Amino acid sequence: GVPALQRVTPSQMKVMNGRKGNPIWSSYQGKVYNVTPYLPFHPGGEKELMKAAGRDGTKLFMEIHPWVNWEGMLSSCLVGILVSEEEAKS
Ligand code: HEM
Repeated sequence: GVPALQRVTPSQMKVMNGRKGNPIWSSYQGKVYNVTPYLPFHPGGEKELMKAAGRDGTKLFMEIHPWVNWEGMLSSCLVGILVSEEEAKS
């Protein structure tokens, strides 16, 4: 079946920045994605996509290409939903 979505905090996401063998996670409008497999395919290049490694990329994304259908493109890379550190405790 479809795996349940993890709740991911900003501090958990920060570690997933491609270093120390970790994957690269980024969030877009509250959804957390493993963008590692998409990296070589990004038309804007790996360096640009890495600006959002381990953090929220919504603002950068919307500044450059708000028309891009990221939700459809990354659906198979969805790992969780972004929650605040406070929400994660409850
Ligand atoms: C271009 C997807 C994140 C910077 C593109 C294009 C796509 C795409 C489809 C081609 C757009 C077109 O030709 O109309 C994505 C997806 C992202 C993502 C799915 C999220 C995972 C980002 C981020 C940045 C960025 C975070 C900036 C830090 C760029 C740049 C281009 C580009 C600079 C080239 C624009 C140009 O001059 O044609 N991206 N992008 N992208 N992207 Fe992204």
